[in-house]
Amino acid sequence: MVAGAASGRESMRERAPVTVTHALGSYPVYVEPGALARLGALAARHLPDRRLAVIADATVAELFGPKFPDGEVFAFPAGERAKTRETWAQLTDALLTRGFGRDSGIVAVGGGVTGDLAGFVAATYLRGVPYVQVPTTLLAMLDASVGGKTGVDTPQGKNLIGAFHPPAAVLADPETLQSLPERDYRSGLAEAVKHGVIADRAYFAWIAGEADALARRDPEVLVALVRRSVEIKAQVVSDDEREAGRRAVLNAGHTVAHALEHVSDYTIPHGEAVALGLVAESALAERLGIAPAGTRARVVEILTALGLPVRLASPLPTARVLDAMAADKKNRRARPRFALPSDIGAMHPGEGWTVAAPETAVLESLREIFP
Ligand SMILES: NC(=O)c1ccc[n+]([C@@H]2O[C@H](COP(=O)([O-])OP(=O)(O)OC[C@H]3O[C@@H](n4cnc5c(N)ncnc54)[C@H](O)[C@@H]3O)[C@@H](O)[C@H]2O)c1
Ligand SMILES: [Zn+2]
Repeated sequence: MVAGAASGRESMRERAPVTVTHALGSYPVYVEPGALARLGALAARHLPDRRLAVIADATVAELFGPKFPDGEVFAFPAGERAKTRETWAQLTDALLTRGFGRDSGIVAVGGGVTGDLAGFVAATYLRGVPYVQVPTTLLAMLDASVGGKTGVDTPQGKNLIGAFHPPAAVLADPETLQSLPERDYRSGLAEAVKHGVIADRAYFAWIAGEADALARRDPEVLVALVRRSVEIKAQVVSDDEREAGRRAVLNAGHTVAHALEHVSDYTIPHGEAVALGLVAESALAERLGIAPAGTRARVVEILTALGLPVRLASPLPTARVLDAMAADKKNRRARPRFALPSDIGAMHPGEGWTVAAPETAVLESLREIFP
């Protein structure tokens, strides 16, 4: 389990990277305080003899530019609204103009938006070049940078155009989290709660117990948090890289979350939408008799302790939320599907780890998060 103050042997283990395996090989995920200072060396090791293009949003380029490895920097405007085909086109055009060839390597430094976008650039540039992920938000460190999913949003919805393209390595430096704006920081905690819900009841309890230390961004607790979440995600995606089956459990809370993000025109950050989605979907699991009574209450309790929303600040049109769910990628025949917990720490196997739900039950569950 997660240890706050690690013993000598454990701190040794903490420095060893987590390994993620995929169809064509494997890659290491380093979780190391101070690692950003070694970015040049790590990029050289994992993208040997490559001409490096560093892709970062403008905020991250400003904050961490001095620590970037030697190479050209390609910056784009920060925020979810930039995760589009248009930005992808601008970045790939810029690389072509600068004469980047098949010997290029991409270093994606930033949050989940940068990882998804720069990863999609790497997946598609000259039919694919290798890349390294350097997550600098909590959400990207403990979730988005692991698993090889890349892509962009379209007017129809989230992440609808993309590709699987595993990175050559992931380098997470939890020290970078100290500069994150409070709202972005808390947002990331929602994905950690999701990991507890889907796979590890003891981790869920540990997060609840460390809520105060997490609010203070205690460095040791943060390392333990990122590490355990990466292990859980690595385990799930290593077992099922292309979401043929169990990987779908990572979508817990996300059928509702993606719809809320889309309908709010991305004014609700991804992590907050995940928090609300976990509440609505655990209510749905209870309503369908899949999860025991009290599951939703435990989810609400932990999210509240972490300062995450459990109710929308202002109402959204319910019909549009239902429509957005009907456009979700997990659907079969336009019926929304949900990855639902059977308890804290365990997911309902359903059919391919997701279930369809009657619209009345979905509506009732959405009511739990409407103001
Ligand atoms: N590929 C996946 O498996 C996966 C999984 C989960 C989420 N995602 C995606 O991740 C995205 C959300 O990622 P996010 O929450 O990291 O958003 P983000 O990338 O927009 O980052 C949030 C903000 O923090 C700023 N920032 C980044 N690092 C900073 C630092 N260290 N200090 C100060 N500011 C910093 C950024 O400039 C940005 O303004 C969504 O698009 C979501 O779909 C992808
Ligand atoms: Zn997510």
